[in-house]
Amino acid sequence: MAEAKSIPRRASGGRLRRLGKAALRAIPRLYAVAVIVIVVWLSYRALAYLVVSLFTPSRAPAQITEIPTHLDEAVLRTRRADWRGVEASAHPRVPPARYHRIDGWIQPDRFNGCAQAGCHRAFPHAHRPEVRAFLNMHATSVHCGVCHLLGEAEPLVAAWYSLDSGRLRSAPTVLEVFGWMTSDEGRRQLAEPSRADQTRLVSLLRAAAREGNDEPVLREMADHFAAVRHASPDFQRLVEAAREALPRRFRGEYGAKLALVDRATGGPLLNHPGTEAAVRAYLREADTADESRRATLLAAVHPRRRPQALHCTDCHRVEKPLLDFAAAGYPPARIDMLTTPVVFRMIEHIASGQPFYLPTFVSPAEESERTRPDSLRP
Ligand code: HEC
Ligand code: HEC
Repeated sequence: MAEAKSIPRRASGGRLRRLGKAALRAIPRLYAVAVIVIVVWLSYRALAYLVVSLFTPSRAPAQITEIPTHLDEAVLRTRRADWRGVEASAHPRVPPARYHRIDGWIQPDRFNGCAQAGCHRAFPHAHRPEVRAFLNMHATSVHCGVCHLLGEAEPLVAAWYSLDSGRLRSAPTVLEVFGWMTSDEGRRQLAEPSRADQTRLVSLLRAAAREGNDEPVLREMADHFAAVRHASPDFQRLVEAAREALPRRFRGEYGAKLALVDRATGGPLLNHPGTEAAVRAYLREADTADESRRATLLAAVHPRRRPQALHCTDCHRVEKPLLDFAAAGYPPARIDMLTTPVVFRMIEHIASGQPFYLPTFVSPAEESERTRPDSLRP
């Protein structure tokens, strides 16, 4: 019986062995097939790539093409980081950076009644070449009303309103960081910074970058501060560089603007109050009205207009400036810059109509005629 039982066991053992041998023989074949499949697939890909790249023109990379051709309102409302060309050209070593570097991304103001009613442009100053660039530059961070509306008190009480909501908000974070870095206390803390100081600095800079529509310089500054050790000389070098670089990010990139505060509503004063009907009447009749009717309509649109807009030295002076910079949240180091004798003298020079000498290659002969003192008087 024992014999009879062992025969089938031996038979099944032989089958297993044969299967095992077959499997061993199959491995190199499968391997060969796999290699053939891979070689054929790779050859196909390489050939297809060659043919496609030879016969179909390839598209230029988005890092080159995705650059806005006009910085119009629709473009300015988008997120800067969505434009890959703008992102790439923020790095000066990228080829398009030479021609397409967009340093500032001015944020459009949807709540500015003067520019939104259909009357004024966002950069309305054109008459006097000597001051128009300065005035239009201010329009990126100061509402028209600060210079053109009669304030309720002097010095003028101005506060920041958000360009997203049109409501009052705190001062821009980039001013807060700068204030901290340049204050006595901040200088002491940042001379021997703790990890908490580093974290605070990084998060403030990130918040400032977000407010400035993903401002790349601030974003990179935050990344650099996050990457070094807080107790290292590198950190100190970054602090020095940041104190120098931050003031260049102070215009048009706050996500906010300064406006007078309306006592009646407690909100920002973003147009002449109660003039909706007058604005509609003006827009309806302006083209057909005669001179005197036009003057009446315009007066109705501007009930709180200052007879004379504030001029440079009303604000930029050390003694009692008309605009209370400190109350508006400007830190002392920034106030020094805004009232410093250098700026002050230069401004007074221009405003008093003295010639502002440009190198002759900048202004052609007939242009420089206009910079003569007598043509400067309004
Ligand atoms: C920093 C102060 C300031 C701000 C902000 C400002 N203006 Fe002016 N504006 C002036 C001064 C000063 C003048 C007179 C210019 C001169 O000396 O000829 C002026 C002149 C004007 C004129 C006459 C045309 C011209 O080219 O001179 C208009 C219109 C005007 N402003 C509208 C506006 C509107 C609209 C805004 C807001 C978008 C605005 N201003 C923001 C100070 C300002
Ligand atoms: C209503 C007050 C006011 C008036 C009027 C005014 N400015 Fe200013 N100016 C400011 C404020 C506020 C800033 C800071 C703007 C900011 O934070 O973006 C500034 C910034 C500047 C700067 C930049 C300084 C820097 O360090 O970055 C210059 C230059 C300047 N103004 C020149 C002028 C000239 C020139 C005039 C007249 C044509 C003028 N300002 C009229 C309030 C005023």
